[in-house]
Amino acid sequence: MNILVIGGGAREHAICYAVHQSSKLSKLYAIPGNYGISQLAECHIVDTNDFDELFSFAIKKAIDLIIVGPEVPLVNGIVDFFTSRKIKIFGPDQFAAQLEGSKSFMKDLCNEHRIPTAQYEKFQNSDDAIKYLETQSYPIVIKADGLAAGKGVTIAEDFKTASIAVQDIFNAKFGANMDVVIEEFMYGEEASYFICSDGKNFISLISAQDHKRIGENDTGPNTGGMGAYSPAPVFTEKVKKQVDAEIIKPTLKAMFDKGHPFKGILYAGLMIENEKAKLVEYNIRFGDPECQVLMMSLKSDLIDLIMYSINGSINDYDCDWYDEDCATVVLASKGYPGEFIKDTEIKGLEKIKTSQSLQVFHAATVESDEKILANGGRVLSITAKDKSLRSALSTIYNEIKKIDWNECYYRNDIGHKALKNEH
Ligand code: AMP
Ligand code: GLY
Repeated sequence: MNILVIGGGAREHAICYAVHQSSKLSKLYAIPGNYGISQLAECHIVDTNDFDELFSFAIKKAIDLIIVGPEVPLVNGIVDFFTSRKIKIFGPDQFAAQLEGSKSFMKDLCNEHRIPTAQYEKFQNSDDAIKYLETQSYPIVIKADGLAAGKGVTIAEDFKTASIAVQDIFNAKFGANMDVVIEEFMYGEEASYFICSDGKNFISLISAQDHKRIGENDTGPNTGGMGAYSPAPVFTEKVKKQVDAEIIKPTLKAMFDKGHPFKGILYAGLMIENEKAKLVEYNIRFGDPECQVLMMSLKSDLIDLIMYSINGSINDYDCDWYDEDCATVVLASKGYPGEFIKDTEIKGLEKIKTSQSLQVFHAATVESDEKILANGGRVLSITAKDKSLRSALSTIYNEIKKIDWNECYYRNDIGHKALKNEH
């Protein structure tokens, strides 16, 4: 099969890594890809918001299957577009993509089907939102109702912070015309749980935990994710049963009943307290950096998984995983998620001897005059698996020392919560 991966982050590099191992692959393409991906796939620049142009590309290259990494093209209806033109594409249609694209869609669905999640109210103007905030207890959570790349959420400890967050959203800090969602604060530990659905049935993939904050001990502003590990110890068998029964199944049934069966990867962001999970958010795609650990842990053929989902026969897929712990540490440009310098040189990558247990996934790298340059916020994702999380992390941190890059920032405490409980 000729396969096209859309996206250019470490998540898409990890997807390419998995696809590259499949016996079903003939030729792999990526749009736009990055330097790391270009070692596995032919990379092209095409505007991913211009579906007609993507279609011409797909026809020219005889693409048999499109795998979409990021949420934006899915929310914009890329699956509807290609499905109606008889090109196979993995993911939910535009309506079902609202599970991620619209907080109020997701919250209304939870209310209708009694899916455990935080209480919420939605506001279309700041006066009403502020009046409501005056009556609430704190902390409270303020969210922009739309896609804000993980940055539209404020956990406000007091009224003043909450009202500033509300003003910011109505002043279009995260994009034009966004409403405000105000949520009850949930206590507990977070985990990410991934399932793959064919619209009717689903199989569980694995759980992971990511580190969203920039600073050690989970401090500072939210980022796309600074590291992850899998499995998540807090996601016990008991929690999984509850989540499947009370969150995943009712959601898939609701989407089916609405005439828009959810196909693809559904990623439930969970808050778990005393072995009871509530839904924080849905994403309609693999997580980044969680995908990096998922793809290293997957023993089965990713293309099979995808084809069983597209063809509606996911129950026939036998998903096999390596029985090891896996972790990834993200190397970012100093200053991220704020301002950072671009085009800084990364040396020493050739000293890292990659294997089935150790991979360097690239997020924002380009090659120029035979140098590898960092050209984004999150740049590399060093990923390893081993018998224990401790040894996987120790490999990663040792390998990072081989990288010579002045502008590099990373967290030294990835996996710290899980390690505390490891023997
Ligand atoms: P979201 O974009 O909705 O996933 O929110 C980003 C992050 O904010 C989550 O991963 C949580 O860490 C935090 N968060 C969001 N909603 C809540 C909530 N209701 N209670 C506590 N933390 C939350
Ligand atoms: N790791 C968080 C996300 O992919 O949304």
